[in-house]
Amino acid sequence: MGRKNFARAALLSLALGATSLASAQGQNTQAEIERYRQMLQDGNPAELVSARGELMWAQKRGPKNVSLEQCDLGLGPGKVKGAYAQLPRYFADTDQVMDFESRLVHCMVSLQGFDRAAVIRAPFSREGEPQTELESLTAYVVEESRGMPIAVSQRHAKERESYKRGEKIFYFRGGPYDFSCATCHSVDDQRIRLQDLPNLTKPEPAQRAFATWPAYRVSQGALRTMQWRLYDCFRQQRFPELKYLAPASVDLITFLGVNANGGKMDSPAIKR
Ligand code: HEC
Repeated sequence: MGRKNFARAALLSLALGATSLASAQGQNTQAEIERYRQMLQDGNPAELVSARGELMWAQKRGPKNVSLEQCDLGLGPGKVKGAYAQLPRYFADTDQVMDFESRLVHCMVSLQGFDRAAVIRAPFSREGEPQTELESLTAYVVEESRGMPIAVSQRHAKERESYKRGEKIFYFRGGPYDFSCATCHSVDDQRIRLQDLPNLTKPEPAQRAFATWPAYRVSQGALRTMQWRLYDCFRQQRFPELKYLAPASVDLITFLGVNANGGKMDSPAIKR
């Protein structure tokens, strides 16, 4: 099944669910059906976000009025194809392991001359708002890795240290409920309210989780990035707010990415 067809099937099953719900509530289902018909014609709404990101990537912007086309995502300046599938990785120029979103911000600051604090002030769009620039650019770059094998490196000592720290954070218990990531994500067939909790310690669900983020969330009508996914899980864990691009976020993404190695990128996906 092609990507577009899959997106359509996914939306269709949502449409059917919504339709029966609406009729059960005795509402006018015709308007709902029309709305979904419209969506089905548009395919995966994330495609619009990545298209916007693609334009933005090539646009001359920022105080230095240059595009992001010379941004080095790890495969050399200007190489976008397949780059996301190999991040996080160690970058010699910053002497740091960086996930995709950290590297994107680095390029916007170093190449385009944007102010770092301003760029990361509001990285996630709020409900009903247009997608942020970071979200659009992320959607474009991850789309360019669709179908590519996840290959997060452990060659550099700092990459191995990042993984170790990520693993530690994953199992670290704390907060008012004494939760760790593992509390929700190391058991099979566990659910919270109506949501499946993937067992991220097993290769297959770990690969699926990494491969399908960033994702378009139908419930929020927005594309969400991997940084957002972790931010929201910190919230569910009742931990202090996870700062955008915080070292802990990069380490967790390294941990998740290495455990997902060999899977195939399939993002942006459509999620609940
Ligand atoms: C209180 C339970 C809870 C805790 C603790 C928790 N999560 Fe989650 N996690 C969830 C829920 C709920 C979802 C979303 C399921 C959905 O929306 O379908 C999720 C989804 C995810 C996903 C995406 C999975 C996929 O296949 O789409 C990742 C990755 C993830 N969590 C990582 C983490 C990490 C890393 C931590 C620790 C910082 C963590 N989670 C802590 C509840 C939790």
